[in-house]
Amino acid sequence: MATVRISELGEFVGQQVTVRGWVVTTRSSGKIAFLVLRDGTGLVQGVLARKEVDDALWERFAGLTQETALAVTGTVRADARAPGGFELTLTDLAVTGPSTDFPITPKEHGTSYLFEHRHLWLRSRRQVAIARVRHEVVQAIRDFFYARDFVLVDTPILTGSIGEEAGNLFSTDYFDLGKAYLGQTGQLYGEAAAAALGRIYCFGPTFRAEKSKTRRHLTEFWMVEPEVAFNDSDDNMRLQEDFVSYVVGRAVERRGAELRELERDTSPLERVQAPFPRISYTDAVAKLNTLGSDITWGRDLGGDDETLLAREYDRPVFVFNYPREVKAFYMKENPDDPRTVLGNDCLAPEGYGEIIGGSQREDDYDRLLARIVAQGLDPQAYGWYLDLRRYGTFVHSGFGLGLERTVAWICGLSHIREAIAFPRQIHRLFP
Ligand code: 4AD
Ligand code: MG
Repeated sequence: MATVRISELGEFVGQQVTVRGWVVTTRSSGKIAFLVLRDGTGLVQGVLARKEVDDALWERFAGLTQETALAVTGTVRADARAPGGFELTLTDLAVTGPSTDFPITPKEHGTSYLFEHRHLWLRSRRQVAIARVRHEVVQAIRDFFYARDFVLVDTPILTGSIGEEAGNLFSTDYFDLGKAYLGQTGQLYGEAAAAALGRIYCFGPTFRAEKSKTRRHLTEFWMVEPEVAFNDSDDNMRLQEDFVSYVVGRAVERRGAELRELERDTSPLERVQAPFPRISYTDAVAKLNTLGSDITWGRDLGGDDETLLAREYDRPVFVFNYPREVKAFYMKENPDDPRTVLGNDCLAPEGYGEIIGGSQREDDYDRLLARIVAQGLDPQAYGWYLDLRRYGTFVHSGFGLGLERTVAWICGLSHIREAIAFPRQIHRLFP
């Protein structure tokens, strides 16, 4: 007899199979008893008729509790009304792992309680759906770059040079060499690799000791960062819109069932198609002022500004050429307006805000050195990075897309922390 996963039941209609999983719910009328079982691939309903089974089996069924691990045997029937679309007429049942007083019950629990029990909460239908959407997004990212001949280059997590800003670094003692920092970005290493391979991307965990407790911030998050030799800022935005459209399209196309489980209205996602509208920072500030924001030229857009601006468009929007004071040291000075840099953010609609930060990189040795010094960074630590401007400097651009912000947006989550299995925030290190 076959032992099968719930997702495979369709191939076994009319046959006897064994399924292993965990109890979601049980109910019994005294004459007929129902069990909903999950195994990570789906749900199936098990049915037991009192008069058709022996006392021992009926008793074992009666003892089942939420999240008991078990193996059931039965005949597969297609039944559109049953959760998952199939029913098993049970002939046997073996408990393999009892579960008493599972802490997460169908009643409402508070958010902090759920996050304290994150290791168990992950089993819920909603969390399983989010995990599967995230998985699809990751696979879509890898497929996109593979198909375009980008080479994956894994960049270090322990670093000596600060990648973004000094204000939100995690540091640790590193033998006799002083401080090491947890990488905020792989970009600087990606730039070196782009000079070797042309088109590269890195994709891994990044760290920011963010003091902010917003629904958009984690202290550990995953970022994918392509870097492309000979792309200018314009090419960079074109790559971003193709990329975001592809990733969102893949999730909608292949994870429809999960998005339905999450009650996500996918019509805004279906509109996510290149080209995306573009607005310069300067025009964005003027527009925001007419929309009621009190932002002044020179200030970074706040989360509320991003939401307000993005609401004006039916798909993600690029804001480009920000003032250099609000952006990182490596962005290339805009030759047409040196107060600004050739960088862009990509703002997602529906209040999700910045999902991408990208730029053309400063490729002039002297200007880059001046920026490093002006930002109070130690030029010694950037000797290797400056070398890229000494030996065959080249026009190049890249960007970073935050995985959890993207997953939160696609899933329609109200907070980024549900977009990763074990979120890290200032007040959360367990489980
Ligand atoms: O705009 P950021 O800081 O850009 C960089 O790190 C560049 N080095 C990327 C590059 O050009 N290669 O971060 C990029 C993205 C943001 O748009 C956001 O989606 C995400 O990373 N991000 C965060 N996500 C969750 N929590 C945080 N604290 C985040 N900080 C940035
Ligand atoms: Mg940014």
